[in-house]
This record gives sequence, C-alpha cells and structure tokens, in this order.
Amino acid sequence: MSVDFLVELYPSNVQYRATAEHTLLDAALGQKLCLQHSCKKSQCGVCVAEVLSGSVKNEHGEVVCDGRVLTCSSYAQSDVRLKAEYYPQLAHLECVTVPCKVASQTWVVDDILLLTLRFPPTLKLHYLPGQYIDLLYQGVRRSYSIANAQEVSSGIELHIRLLPDGELSQLLRACELNQLMRLEGPKGTFFVREAENPLLFLAGGTGFAPVKAMVESLLAQGVSREIYIYWGMPNSRSLYTDIAERWSLEHPQVHYVPVVSQDDPLWDGRSGFVHDAVLADFADLSDFHVYACGSPLMIEAAKATFMAQGLYEGHFYSDAFVSTL
Ligand code: FES
Repeated sequence: MSVDFLVELYPSNVQYRATAEHTLLDAALGQKLCLQHSCKKSQCGVCVAEVLSGSVKNEHGEVVCDGRVLTCSSYAQSDVRLKAEYYPQLAHLECVTVPCKVASQTWVVDDILLLTLRFPPTLKLHYLPGQYIDLLYQGVRRSYSIANAQEVSSGIELHIRLLPDGELSQLLRACELNQLMRLEGPKGTFFVREAENPLLFLAGGTGFAPVKAMVESLLAQGVSREIYIYWGMPNSRSLYTDIAERWSLEHPQVHYVPVVSQDDPLWDGRSGFVHDAVLADFADLSDFHVYACGSPLMIEAAKATFMAQGLYEGHFYSDAFVSTL
C-alpha cells in the first residue's frame, strides 16, 4: 500500500495529499488544485516551487529539503511545505477529451498551418485564453496553444509549425477537411491575471497564438489596460498575420512592434532579438506584467534581462514551446 503525505502550499495554506509515486503537480491536479505549470516535461521551468520544509525527491533524483524543485517531476518523501502558486480561477475548468473535426486549414507560410477545429453542436470547450490543448490524431499527441478567444468563435484555432520530420506534421500535411480528431484540454496556467498594470506580450514564432487569444479576449471585454505586443520572427515573410497591426490601428491602447532576427532586404522595421527590442524601448519595466511565449531560450533570456531592468519576478508569466518530433 502506498503511503501518502500532506503537502501544504504557502502562502495560501491550501493542503492536499501526495504519494511518493505521483509527482507533486499530478497529485495537485488530481485534486483540482491547479499549480503553475506548462510543459510537464521538466523543460520549461514554469512549475518551479520552493521546498520550505520536509523532503522532496527532485527531477534529478536528489532529495531536497531546502531549495527549488520542479513540481512536474518531483515527489514528496515526507509531509512537505511548498512555496507555490495555485489558481482557484482554474478549478472549475475541467480537463476533458472531446471529439472535433477539421473546419479549415490554411497554410499561411510554407511551414505554418492555421488549423480550425469545430465541436459537435452540443459541446463547448471552456478555457481561459492562453491555455493549451493536446491534439490527438492517429495515435500521436502534441500540445498546441489555443489561438482564439471564446468570445469570437465556438471552435478553436491552432497555429502549428510543421517540422520536416515531425510525426504529426506528416499526418497533418495529408489531412483533409472534416477529418475527425480528438483533443484533451484545457491545460496550463498561462492566462491573464486581473490587475491594472500595463501588459507586455512577448511572442516568438507561433508563440503568437496564445497572445492572440489573450488580446482578442481583452479587447472583446473592453479592457482598457495598455497593451504592448512584441512579436519576433526570423524574417518579414514569416510574420503570418496582420491582426496585431489591425488592433493597433483600431484600439489606441494597443501598441504593436514586429521584430525580425535575420537580415532581410524587404524589411525596414525593427531587427534583432525580440526581447532586446523591449529592453531598448523601456528603461524601467517595474510597472509591467509580462506574458511571454516562445522558445525556452527566448523566455530565459527575456526573464533575466527584464528583471535586471526592474521587472518584478512574480509579474513574468510564460509558456515555453517544447518541440517534439
Ligand atoms: S518544467 Fe514543469 S511544467 Fe515545465
């Protein structure tokens, strides 16, 4: 019989039980306590928590009594007190597996597919903009951020970068309209927290997808916070939608800065790394809430440099794309 331990979260003092066989994160999620997380593969760092007392076996198999662990790959070894955020606002969003059909597929550039999926008429997927789903098709599972707000569509839109050797990428290239698939979600803790502070969205590549969903929802709700969107792509051709530019023309509080990282003779806008453009534009980031989505490298660099420029660590929210072939 497996022994279970008491885990107490600080500062909320919420408690739950965890065995040594289930990760601290899975045990919490199983009891409808949504701890901060994203990839669940020890790669993005979003689920980091601090062990205040008790002992935890961490992602490297080491026993930690005092220090940081990743809850997605760590296990309680005794009763534990953990400094970790949890989100009651996600408790009512049940993660479900539902059928869906391909409603449209648009190749916006050579390797990026905008896929829209619709649900049976009686079904609605409830989620917060910024969250992701797992797409399940022919035995393959991949995670994608939802790219639309619920206010604008009853289905969902995904922005999918197809990889030359990717298993799902090959299947999607051959996929047809009305193809039946399944998805599991919603997942993750990337969503806009209520506050008055100006918002800074940082997107790399198809990391624009959750940013689109979040901004779309904020605008649909008439939120008046200042919104800065920085979107980095390798070249001007790969900036696959002009929706952020349209928002900036239609809504005075939206400011949009596309940034390309490669030499591009067709481009006369900002160039370099996208997070460097933010650093150049704001000497003091202390008032901002930042939402960043893209590669783990971009997110790591942005977090470190933004904090050095005044950003409070607790106001940096991120969702790292971990690619799987
Ligand atoms: S490292 Fe744990 S959720 Fe990504």
